[in-house]
Amino acid sequence: MENNTTFNERIQELAGLIHEGFNYISYEEARRELLLWISETTGLNAIKLRVDPPELSEEQWSSLESFAVRRSMGMPFAYLLGRCHFYDLELAIGPGVLIPRPETEELVDRAVAWTEERIAESTEKLRILDLCTGSGCIGVATGHALKQKMNQRKLPKVELDIALSDESAYALEYARVNSDAYAEPGLHFSIFEGDLMAPFRKEKAPPFDLILCNPPYVHPDEIPLLAPETYLHEPAEALFHNDPPALYIQIIRECLPFLSDHGVIIMELSQFVYQVVSMLCENEFPDCTYRVEKDLSGKQRFLIFACNSHP
Ligand SMILES: C[S@@+](CC[C@H](N)C(=O)[O-])C[C@H]1O[C@@H](n2cnc3c(N)ncnc32)[C@H](O)[C@@H]1O
Repeated sequence: MENNTTFNERIQELAGLIHEGFNYISYEEARRELLLWISETTGLNAIKLRVDPPELSEEQWSSLESFAVRRSMGMPFAYLLGRCHFYDLELAIGPGVLIPRPETEELVDRAVAWTEERIAESTEKLRILDLCTGSGCIGVATGHALKQKMNQRKLPKVELDIALSDESAYALEYARVNSDAYAEPGLHFSIFEGDLMAPFRKEKAPPFDLILCNPPYVHPDEIPLLAPETYLHEPAEALFHNDPPALYIQIIRECLPFLSDHGVIIMELSQFVYQVVSMLCENEFPDCTYRVEKDLSGKQRFLIFACNSHP
């Protein structure tokens, strides 16, 4: 009982420190995060922690205090932990690379579904590109999910060749670690560094069957709509672009020469740009087809684009 009181008092104190330092995190949220931190760093069950507080060593308390101090400055939880969960994977993450978002998991759902259909039509090898890859989350999760289905004999075995590309060498370090962690026979990742499709033009790369891309699509005027921990700590080059609709058109234009005959481009976008992007697609690519799909929260989120075939 005494232990419960001490534990809860110390947690309360640290939750107060976080909330007062960075009041975008409510007291309750801070408390929840402290328990999550203990659970993630000690392996103790997060629910059990609430009802049956453990005896933490002074070393563990000091690690928790150091977490609270850095969290009170708004440093994102995932950066402090050094990892995050995405589509059943645990990915390495840290300052300098975008923290993968839940809506991006829905892009992976679409990539997996499209590839499954393609495999059902029979093919021996598929080439997939994750452009603007950041941590590699989209390409790695897509490859891993498909490979798991193949290993469970739910899908015929085909070779998956997945390219991960970004202009940030820093982000690519994470993509490398994450792709190394999930590569296996039949699932091969390669890393490219450069501006959009420049690395592939230089290499005269063969076409891709599927191109996936979550580009920086926030206009700087939208900063007030972002969480402060995002605009204060996540890399600006991963978030912002001065003309997001133009960037989408540029990406499509650069990708088209590298898209196989029945290839598809799937991109993430925001509710603020989808109408302009759709209009521009109609004007710029009249012979191609595209559609915009909503995410689970009802926001217009995914652009599915194809040429010579219907997506
Ligand atoms: C929105 S983040 C997406 C990261 C990751 N794919 C995800 O979904 O979490 C955009 C990424 O695009 C990269 N990027 C921005 N401009 C680029 C460019 N011109 N060429 C290549 N990559 C670029 C950034 O470094 C960043 O990693």
